[in-house]
Amino acid sequence: MNKIIFIILFVSAIYGCTGKISVNKLTIAEGRNIISDSGMVVSAHPQSSRIGIAILRKGGNAVDAAVATEFALAVCYPEAGNIGGGGFMLIRQADGTTDLIDYREKAPLKASRDMYLDASGDVSEGLSTETHMASGVPGTVDGMVNIHSKYGILSFRDVIQPAIDLARKGFPLTDGQAADFNSNRQNFITRNLTPPSFVKDTPWVAGDTLRQESLAQTLERIRDRGRDGFYSGTTARLIVKEMERGNGIISGQDLSEYRASFKDPVLKEYHGYRIISASPPSGGGIVLLQILGMISPYNLKEAGFHTWQSVHLITEAERRAFADRSKFLGDPGFTEIPVDRLLDDNYLARRMSNYSKDSASSSSKIFPGSPLAAVSEETTHYSVADYLGNAVAATTTLNGTFGNSIIVDSAGFLLNNQMDDFSVKPGVPNMYGLVGGEANSIQPGKKMLSSMTPVIIEKDGKLFMIAGSPGGSTIPTSVLQVIINVIDYGMSIRQAVDTGRFHHQWLPDHISYEKNSLDSTNILKLRSMGHELRERNAIGRVNAIMILPDGKKAAGADRRGNNSACGY
Ligand code: GLY
Repeated sequence: MNKIIFIILFVSAIYGCTGKISVNKLTIAEGRNIISDSGMVVSAHPQSSRIGIAILRKGGNAVDAAVATEFALAVCYPEAGNIGGGGFMLIRQADGTTDLIDYREKAPLKASRDMYLDASGDVSEGLSTETHMASGVPGTVDGMVNIHSKYGILSFRDVIQPAIDLARKGFPLTDGQAADFNSNRQNFITRNLTPPSFVKDTPWVAGDTLRQESLAQTLERIRDRGRDGFYSGTTARLIVKEMERGNGIISGQDLSEYRASFKDPVLKEYHGYRIISASPPSGGGIVLLQILGMISPYNLKEAGFHTWQSVHLITEAERRAFADRSKFLGDPGFTEIPVDRLLDDNYLARRMSNYSKDSASSSSKIFPGSPLAAVSEETTHYSVADYLGNAVAATTTLNGTFGNSIIVDSAGFLLNNQMDDFSVKPGVPNMYGLVGGEANSIQPGKKMLSSMTPVIIEKDGKLFMIAGSPGGSTIPTSVLQVIINVIDYGMSIRQAVDTGRFHHQWLPDHISYEKNSLDSTNILKLRSMGHELRERNAIGRVNAIMILPDGKKAAGADRRGNNSACGY
């Protein structure tokens, strides 16, 4: 590579600055907040955004670019990008038709309701997060193969090859990644048979090259054999061997039976916009749409941005939506979910009937409603828009940062710890503090409830925005705030993504807020109304694209990470 281009790529990879760069001899704009005329990819790492945009420039559509970005994230962002996890991809074609592919992990056939409880019936600490038993059957590879075969126009080889090259040749780590690898070093050593490529003798520093030859070989098997390159043959044998080594329960049968599925997204109108998102087994879409439905009758703009009035209103709606989540949401293959009734305007108005604008409710007195009678948090989201008008919003995850930190020996990829997203014991919170009930109990072959909230928004029947976020339980509330920041407060996508956030999830009963996001007067007032407030670290890391009135695309790559947009 030309030395000057290398330096530009290196500097922009480290600092995410805005500028023009050359990828495969193509000139593209890169940065966190660029504007493009045609195609755009916004993802958690500069390398994956570059690979996605190169696929668009090669003539691929948004789905080709999304599949290439997903495989690239498995290489350059192993904190959450994966082939050992799962996710949800939402698609809106240029003609307005929408589709959702659910490639969420499944509980293995040997899973059972009380598998994480000890002899006294208490939760065995770490079993659902740190061990081989924490892994659900991975869904990403089947999801990508299927979505590509339904919508892709380039060959599968074309879209996966850049990830193979990236794994083999290596790429420079960002500063955040160097820190992530260093802080997780001990887990990588103790939980694996041989130290993975993520471990080196001296601490990682930004700009160090990470090469992953075993992962490159696994990706080549997927390139050459499609889903069989993962769910049978060498890769499947290596996964089962890894499970046997660590008392895990994923079997060859689990792998051969795994199938991703296409389903209808959920949608709701909000202040003249149509909000489209993921349906169960993600609860993210329903929680987001319920909150929007509950706050819709109120005038947020008049209440003001981050004032006690607006924070209180949104908090009370969040409290009620998360209470409903705990009871009604789970895998629709196992639990009947009253989706229409949960999103019904009359039901949502009833949920807010005990809302007082002057005082906080107590979560101990807010119960799930009766619609029938009437994340360390690591996940990653990327948004893609192509020159044809197609859009993709995809959120994918291993659950915790680096999943359970267990790498399938000789296959080079991390396993998820997604089983912790089940309700391992009613009333006992998971790693995100979420509590659940029967609807999300463990059963063989069942999918664990997610919070992933990929979103596509239309205005007057036209594509308006693509967004999503990591952050476990804070995913739907992060996405919510970006939506209302744009729709109600009239912010640019850059401001909407970068401004401070807050969050409430019913239990634990407190508002968490980012430093400097709320001023002390509003905090004092909210406390006097009965709210408990706690400052915390970053909430969410949104990657969004907004379509401007002249048809150009504006990126919102969150300042909270090394997120990067590429466009042309
Ligand atoms: N594991 C995070 C989620 O699916 O919500």
